[in-house]
This record gives sequence, structure tokens and C-alpha cells, in this order.
Amino acid sequence: MSVGSSEKPPVNRAKFATNLGVLAATLGSAVGLGNIWKFPYLTGSNGGAAFLLVYIICMLLIGIPVMVSELTLGRAARSNAIATMQKLSPARQPWWLIGAAGVLAAFLIMAFYSEVAAWVFAYIFKAIQGGILSTDPEVTKSAFNGLVGNPTQSLIWQWIDLAVVGFIILLGVNKGIESATKKLMPILLGLLILVGIRSITLPGAGQGLTFLFQPDFTKLTAASFLIAMGLAFFKLSVGMGTMITYGSYFRDDQDIPGTAFRVAFSDLAVSLLAGIAIFPAVFAFGYQPNAGPSLLFLTIPSVFASMPLGNIFMVIFFILTAIASIGAQISLVEVPVAFLEEKFHLSRQKASIITVLSIVLVGSLAALSNSTLADVKLFGMTFFDLFDYTTSNILLPLGGLFIAIFISWIWGYKKLSAALSNNGQLSNQGIIKVFYGTLLVVTPVLVTIVLLNGLKIIQ
Ligand code: PFF
Repeated sequence: MSVGSSEKPPVNRAKFATNLGVLAATLGSAVGLGNIWKFPYLTGSNGGAAFLLVYIICMLLIGIPVMVSELTLGRAARSNAIATMQKLSPARQPWWLIGAAGVLAAFLIMAFYSEVAAWVFAYIFKAIQGGILSTDPEVTKSAFNGLVGNPTQSLIWQWIDLAVVGFIILLGVNKGIESATKKLMPILLGLLILVGIRSITLPGAGQGLTFLFQPDFTKLTAASFLIAMGLAFFKLSVGMGTMITYGSYFRDDQDIPGTAFRVAFSDLAVSLLAGIAIFPAVFAFGYQPNAGPSLLFLTIPSVFASMPLGNIFMVIFFILTAIASIGAQISLVEVPVAFLEEKFHLSRQKASIITVLSIVLVGSLAALSNSTLADVKLFGMTFFDLFDYTTSNILLPLGGLFIAIFISWIWGYKKLSAALSNNGQLSNQGIIKVFYGTLLVVTPVLVTIVLLNGLKIIQ
């Protein structure tokens, strides 16, 4: 049953088939390059353990409550992000703009995300050829720079990635999204544990663990609070309607708060595993923790170079990372695809093709940011950095802020409580009250302060 919506949900709308499938698809959206590529490099550039702590606080007080809100709204309206906000808001109030900003964010994130996925795809082939396996920072750096500095390679690998994502999206919700993500997550986890064990047994690894787990609060700035909050949004795929869209495929008996907690903590575990795989190696081999977006691509080949059968494991590692990135990309692309399908009555094929081709266009700006367009800067950033920065640190927090305000202040406690308890079938009144209070005050206040402070609007 739809809660709080005056319109009846469409009868034939797709739904995830099983509760495990729901968990896998939602987790498949959260877990991706954010854990394996972004989390380590941002933690490395923002001082390590203290940043990690701020990130966890943002996850608890902002990320999880917004995820619960989005899933709830999506399931209540059973629509794409824009139509959900339209259906559930009082007449003539423009809350649908949140959904529209989400569709824009999906394109901008896909533009740079598909390029990082492109590097991962390229590394699978580099690993097969054997040239990148080295503990020498000079060798791994020149391999990475050679790839990102080459416009043809950057574009072609991005197109390959987008072709794979487009194909899975075309298959639809159940066959494509659900079945692909369910099988692959556990294998990735196993391999990350293996890399982690090798990394912490390297000589000199202790420094890396200290960096990751012993906080030094003097390293925190207003900017690092903003970046930690942005990472929490990005990691949990919230603030832009992805979870509204996925929530619209949720079953009526799904426990939404329970699912959100499980997804968030499993996601955190994957990020920590990636950190444990990378930081000991950073210090053992003499890399810089603040190397930026290249960090993963420099350190991982060195870890594998120092273990038996390293090359084979490295090939598998990058294949699984590519697969994890695809789960996340599918959820990003699903936001505009669901919108185009429902708004303009397009077939899934047409909606998918239009979306992917548009991403190819915007994405080429990000793909060429280290080569042809390296000198083109807006606000001092390349297109790649600009798309990355503005989505995580501005668009997603703003989306999350308004979603929190909408569900607590406008939709209200009664509807929220009915939706989160599955109309009284779950006995989770205590947790519902905690969520309500958090969404009413804590989340909006925190997001506002961190945003204004981090963007230097107030100091
Ligand atoms: N959560 C994904 C990751 O960490 O890789 C990225 C992402 C997916 C962000 C979907 C936003 C989104 F809507």
C-alpha cells in the first residue's frame, strides 16, 4: 500500500523480488569506488583517523537518517525521484526541485565516476599484461600518469565502462540490478581481506595503521568537516534521489530502518578494509598518503608485487572493483532512466540509451581533464575535480537537507511512523522516534552549519 499518497501506485511497477535482493541491490549502490578509491584518498589527504571519526559521526547523524527518509518516500510514492516529491508534497509547493537536482547530480557524478571506473578497467588489462606490478613508486606513478594523460585511452575505457553499465540497465530491475549485485559482493570482500592481511604484514606497516586509527584532531579544518560530510552522502548514495528510486522498488514488508543500518555498517566495513589494505602499504613503500585520486592505483600494484601469485590476484582485484563500481553506477543511471521512462512514457531501451549517450558527452569533459583539457579550469578546478567537488560537497548535502526537512516538517510524524513500522507490523516505535527527532533538528542543523562553514560563507 502506498502511504501518504493520494494517487494509486502503478500496478505493473517492478519490485525487487526478495528481501535479500533488496539488501544486495541497496548495498550494491552504496559499495563502489567510494570505498576503494575515494575513501582512502580523502582520508589520506585530510589527516587520517580524525577525519575517519568525523566521517562516522556524519554517517550516523546525517547519512543513515537521510537514507531512511529517501527509501520511505520512494516506497510511499512508488515513483521516480521527481514524481515522488511531486506526489507527496502539498499542492503548489516546489519540492520536486529536490528530485530535479538529483537527476542533475546523477549526470555530474556519472561523468567523473565513469572515468575512475575507466581507469579500473584499464588496470585489469595492464595487470594482465604484467607491466604495472612493482614496489617502486616511480614505476607505478608513470604507469598511472601514462594512462590518465592519454586522451584516447581515457575516452575509450570510459566508453567501454558505459557500454557495460548501459547493457545491465537495459536488462531491467530484477534481471539486471538484482542478480548481478547479489553474487559478486561476497567475492570482493574476501579479496579485500586477503589484500589487507598482506598489507599489514609488510615491514613498516604499523605507521599506516596508526595513521588510520589514531586521531590527531589538530589536523581537522572546516574544509575537512565538509569533505567528511560530502563523503558520507556520496558513500551511502543519498541526497540525490537514488535511494528514493530504489525505495520505490522496495517490498511493503521490508524493514527500512533495519536495511539502512545494515547497509551503512557493511559499507563502513568495506571502506575500513580498503583503508587497511592501502595505508600500511603507503608507509611501507614510501608513498604520500595525500597523493589524491591516484592513491589506489599507485599502492595496490605494490601490495600485489610483494605477494606470491600477485599478478593473478591483482587481475581479480581490479575485476571485482570494476564490478563493485558497476553496482553503484547502475543505481546512479537508474535515477534519470526511471524519470525519463515514467515522465515521457519512453521504453526502458530508449530511456537508457538517451541517458548513457548524455553521460558520454558530459563524461568526456571529465575524461580529458588530465590531458587535452588539463588547463581548462573553473573555480580553479578541472572538470573532473569540479564535478566531484560540487556534487559531494554542495548538491548532495543540499538535497539531504531538504529531504530531512520535508519528511519531518512537511510529511510529518504520523505518516513517517506508519511507513517505518509498515503500518504497525514492526514494533520499532522507539527507533522511529529517534529518527524523527534527528531528522527534525539534528540533521538539518548539522548539514547547514557544516555547509556554511566549509564553503566559508560563515567562519
Ligand atoms: N555510493 C557509491 C560509492 O561509494 O561508490 C557512489 C554513488 C552511487 C553515489 C549512487 C551516489 C549515488 F547516488
